[in-house]
Amino acid sequence: MIKPIIVANWKLYGNKTFVQEFSKYFNLNLKNYLKKNTIIIAPPIIYIEYMKKLINEKNIFFSSQNIDYHNEGAFTGEISSRMLNDIGVKYVILGHSERRKNHFESNKLIAKKFHSVKKNNLIPILCIGETKEEKKLELTEKILKKQIDEIFLKCGKFAFNKTIVAYEPIWAIGSGKTATPNLINKILKMIKKYIIKNSFNNIKLYMQYGGSVSPENIKNIINEKYVDGVLIGSGSLNFKNFKKIIQISSNFNKKKTSS
Ligand code: PGA
Repeated sequence: MIKPIIVANWKLYGNKTFVQEFSKYFNLNLKNYLKKNTIIIAPPIIYIEYMKKLINEKNIFFSSQNIDYHNEGAFTGEISSRMLNDIGVKYVILGHSERRKNHFESNKLIAKKFHSVKKNNLIPILCIGETKEEKKLELTEKILKKQIDEIFLKCGKFAFNKTIVAYEPIWAIGSGKTATPNLINKILKMIKKYIIKNSFNNIKLYMQYGGSVSPENIKNIINEKYVDGVLIGSGSLNFKNFKKIIQISSNFNKKKTSS
């Protein structure tokens, strides 16, 4: 059985007061759900250490929203996987569409980052997805496979072992429009089968959906066979909504999907 994997991507939101309030709320209302969910919080990186102290619970995990692929060097303003490892962070979100778009991150650059994350024994949460236009042109599968291929090229046949891949259709992010549960399942199945087909045997691969996940739609999404968890943006910034999402997903421990 695996527990639903819930990632809270705060993006560029929050401040010290918010962190204190979130941590207090978490300690009072959410700690109990850690038995039934894997909860990973990705606040802006500067708040991670502080939050860790405030929450003080070894079963909650933290993620960065980005990294530089170098371990160290003259790269002003960057942070590395090695540094994250040093402070006990376990996960790194990579290839988020906002980084692809606003910071011009290519599949090649994301593959270098993926490589660095794996080398430093962290777990990548690789976001892939298509735009509205690409969807209209029925290019979804092609785009997703291209995003995956670059990782295989750089990191080899074992690349996706112990990783999370999040299907995040760009048209669903922050738009209030979720993909239907049926479509999510179909695409996650396609992605998973494609990765497994190109990998060495027995990899451990977990699949997520992201894009306007809310208390209203979580039940139908998490219920789908290939959905191991969700990546939540704005829904994770509202304490009550975040709690509801976690509460509902708690009922969906399930058998690992076939690999
Ligand atoms: P959203 O963001 O939940 O606000 O749509 C999801 C994401 O960007 O990962």
